[in-house]
Amino acid sequence: MRVDRFLSNLPRFNRKQVRLLLVERRVSVDGVTVSDPHHEVRAFSRVCVDGEMLQAGTQARYFMLHKPQGCVSATSDPQHPTVLDLLDEPDKHTLHIAGRLDYNTTGLILITNDGQWSRRLTQPSTKLPKVYRVETEQPIGPEYAETFKAGLYFAFEDLTTQPAELALLGPNTARLSIIEGRYHQVKRMFGHFDNKVIALHRERMGPLQLDTSLAPGEYRALTDDEIRQV
Ligand code: URA
Repeated sequence: MRVDRFLSNLPRFNRKQVRLLLVERRVSVDGVTVSDPHHEVRAFSRVCVDGEMLQAGTQARYFMLHKPQGCVSATSDPQHPTVLDLLDEPDKHTLHIAGRLDYNTTGLILITNDGQWSRRLTQPSTKLPKVYRVETEQPIGPEYAETFKAGLYFAFEDLTTQPAELALLGPNTARLSIIEGRYHQVKRMFGHFDNKVIALHRERMGPLQLDTSLAPGEYRALTDDEIRQV
């Protein structure tokens, strides 16, 4: 939210007072004096007027987890263990999952409390590739790659999938890169050829690669560099 809106939403300042506070350089965000009314204030920003703290700001948190089979990508579930159960962190209710995986899909899951950051990763408009290793019941035909590149019509959503790249790794295994995350997207793409996906593993989301030193069920905080890459 813009800093002028943030301040005028507080009961103690009207819009005219906010304009003055900014012109008189009495406002700071994260320790830096701010006079531009458009300056962005986030949940994680520390906002002060005349040195008095008006919003302490929470700490932004980012984790990568190697999702094992047999757990759900949800923050709570009445029946099954969730990926959040695997995290030994405080205030887990403030965290959310950036891009879910099916119950039996394994691989990279990103968990954060930063909604802007996770939207950048998951929105199709940012065109960040999500890369999967796929194993299928039947051999993967040479026609698959062309069809996936052209896009497949999904009647339920009434849309055509964005161009996807398929690279064969063996007769029944391939690496697939997609830039959306539609419901069961990969399984439905192979389902078009009546070919069942028997194992699915997410290796990468945008610039972030699953750390191969993480065993299934393990996680770690992202580095500052990894956070900045998104
Ligand atoms: N596509 C699927 O079908 N399942 C997943 O878990 C992820 C992508």
